[in-house]
Amino acid sequence: MKQEREQNCVDQFARRHSSLTAGKALFSLDGRVALITGGSRGLGLAMAEGLGQAGATVAINGRNADTLETVASTLRGRGLEAETSPFDVTDHHAAQVAIDAIVARHGQLDILVANAGIIHRAPLDDWTSVDWDRILTTNLKACFFLAPQVAVSMRRQGHGRIIFTTSIVSVQARGGIHGYAASKSGLVGLTRSLACELGEYGITCNGICPGYFETELTASVLQSEEYVARLNSRVPLRRWGQPSDLAGVAIFLASDAASYVTGQQIVVDGGFTTTI
Ligand SMILES: NC(=O)c1ccc[n+]([C@@H]2O[C@H](COP(=O)([O-])OP(=O)(O)OC[C@H]3O[C@@H](n4cnc5c(N)ncnc54)[C@H](OP(=O)(O)O)[C@@H]3O)[C@@H](O)[C@H]2O)c1
Repeated sequence: MKQEREQNCVDQFARRHSSLTAGKALFSLDGRVALITGGSRGLGLAMAEGLGQAGATVAINGRNADTLETVASTLRGRGLEAETSPFDVTDHHAAQVAIDAIVARHGQLDILVANAGIIHRAPLDDWTSVDWDRILTTNLKACFFLAPQVAVSMRRQGHGRIIFTTSIVSVQARGGIHGYAASKSGLVGLTRSLACELGEYGITCNGICPGYFETELTASVLQSEEYVARLNSRVPLRRWGQPSDLAGVAIFLASDAASYVTGQQIVVDGGFTTTI
């Protein structure tokens, strides 16, 4: 009787262990190579760190090579495989050169997190066509031109993940950020059209749609205690997002766990968009 009970325990442990291993494998990014634009700080850096922790080699992008080297070296100090890929996302030639270099180094590029973005806040009458072009070029046009560039390698591999950082302003409006809202809404449409065209090659395209997060992008509004308090009162989880709150979703979308998820937006906003 005792022997039978012990054997049951051993069997149960083995079953649990093998399902845990299978669960971990589903989210593992071992052997994957990821490019994260706007990975020098904020949300991009947190997602890069998450992908690295899941096993991917991460190439972090931004415009300042020195800053990127410092950040990559910190990630390497934490045991992650991190390298730098400095270029301005609005410079399509520079992007092509950088992507070619990643593919030449690793023989593959599995994941693009197109996250680099900027914001401009001004009343409607103060918007100039220069402001409009700057926002749309960085937040939307650059993402569009990065997609075919990474798709070359992804098509060949028969596998790829394109992830855009969109925003809840694509579903909920606020004045003063007209170009930003237009760019992020455009990115939602682009997510869907790329998903349709690239699906047959095993490439998925999804968006991570953040609510309000504490980063340099929101630093000016974070200075207003009244604004922060007003927002917190509308967020069911009663706080602003921390960049690390995005890591899990990025890992999920980049991993085999999300093999059949494409053309979607995953909202990460502490419940903000569910309230009225
Ligand atoms: N924070 C929020 O609450 C929030 C909410 C929704 C969506 N988002 C989106 O999340 C993304 C990241 O924002 P964040 O809050 O992390 O902002 P952030 O802290 O200001 O970081 C922006 C990143 O983009 C890079 N970048 C900007 N322009 C670039 C360019 N032309 N070429 C290459 N890299 C460029 C910056 O690097 P360098 O300056 O070093 O080049 C930096 O790494 C953006 O797309 C933003 O719209 C943010």
